[in-house]
Amino acid sequence: MAKGKVDALLGIVFGDEGKGKVVDCFTPKYDIVARFAGGPNAGHTIIFEGKKFVLRSIPSGIFDEGKVNIIGNGCVIAPDLFMAEAKELEVAGYDLKSRLHISKRAHLILPTHRVLDRAYEAAKGKNKVGTTGKGIGPTYSEKAARTSLRVGDILENFSEKYAALKSRHEQILKDLHYTDYDITEEERLWLEGVEYMKSFPLTDTEIELHKALKAGKSVLAEGAQGTMLDIDHGTYPFVSSSSTCSGGVCTGLGVAPNAIGEIFGIFKAYSTRVGSGPFPVELFDETGDKIREIGNEYGAVTGRNRRCGWVDLVALKYAIALNGVTQLIMMKSDVLDTFDTIKACVAYKKDGVVTEDMPYDTEGWEAVYEELPGWKTDLTGLTSPDQFPKAFQNYIDYLEKALETPITIVSVGPDRAQTISRA
Ligand code: IMP
Repeated sequence: MAKGKVDALLGIVFGDEGKGKVVDCFTPKYDIVARFAGGPNAGHTIIFEGKKFVLRSIPSGIFDEGKVNIIGNGCVIAPDLFMAEAKELEVAGYDLKSRLHISKRAHLILPTHRVLDRAYEAAKGKNKVGTTGKGIGPTYSEKAARTSLRVGDILENFSEKYAALKSRHEQILKDLHYTDYDITEEERLWLEGVEYMKSFPLTDTEIELHKALKAGKSVLAEGAQGTMLDIDHGTYPFVSSSSTCSGGVCTGLGVAPNAIGEIFGIFKAYSTRVGSGPFPVELFDETGDKIREIGNEYGAVTGRNRRCGWVDLVALKYAIALNGVTQLIMMKSDVLDTFDTIKACVAYKKDGVVTEDMPYDTEGWEAVYEELPGWKTDLTGLTSPDQFPKAFQNYIDYLEKALETPITIVSVGPDRAQTISRA
């Protein structure tokens, strides 16, 4: 952590790497924690002192008194879901209004965006993206089409602006013959959420950040989703709609590239993916089921089964290069405690072609594996690297060599305390 810099903490595969827990551990070192992309499609689970919270739009630094948390301009926000999330934290005793600033330039997810999300998915038939249904794609599409509403819009003549956009959406839905929906109750809560949002500081967060950086403050940019779900660099079209990579930190917070410091890349000791799309390391056998069961790999937002497989070095190398990762953080190592052998995907193969580089179209590629011995030891009670069993240390050394990047933190369980530094 350097003063006057923005460090980024990014999921570098398909999301769900456990960013929430790590940001929460990192927060004490930073003055500001900021979200720069995505919205309530994210579900960052944080467990401490026997309490469990799932954050969707609110940055994970919210539990730490005295820190500023920012929802940046690159994010999309649903007022009703935001209100529900914020009130839960307020009931638990956290004073949000003094710690959470929302960018006036962030875009609003309307109830009709969520209906559009469902309608577009339905129209795709078997090519469904498998979205979270939170209206993410339709909102970012309208941002690019310059027809969207921003948080700053709620401060002036909002009823008219809302009515105009809603009626545009209703027309699109009619044209799609998607008319069997009722948003009456959802809309009531949404409008209540809009009023509730007005009690928070709605600010020019980018200017706030410029001033803070100039004054030597340190900022942690908290990623959402993962590199392989990035709108430009992921497995398009099976991706989310925002820039989830380190480049998105600059556009999504309004900070310059030379303000960026460390880039922490988070990955799991194995791989998961939710929703549709290519996933060469996917295991359809009992090994995949075992990883899912032990790792509790069910979506935090949708409850869907996550698809599971071994670690994918092709994807990780690509992500490290795209993001400029300076340090790696390996999560959920303990999930592999009982396996006799561990595999790592070192290349993809298709029609006699073998590649170590991420192909343009990842559809139809099969994983080529190397096999390593499992450690067959319970890691969950370990507190320092010198306690690591030899085979686990070998796995770390193997990954570091292949990825040419140091693994500086290893997580061995869901609690804050089960986080081991190797730096
Ligand atoms: P959307 O972001 O809801 O449009 O969904 C697009 C794709 O990204 C789907 O495959 C989702 O399952 C996936 N996705 C979106 N957010 C997350 C996340 O936070 N973790 C993992 N997958 C996600």
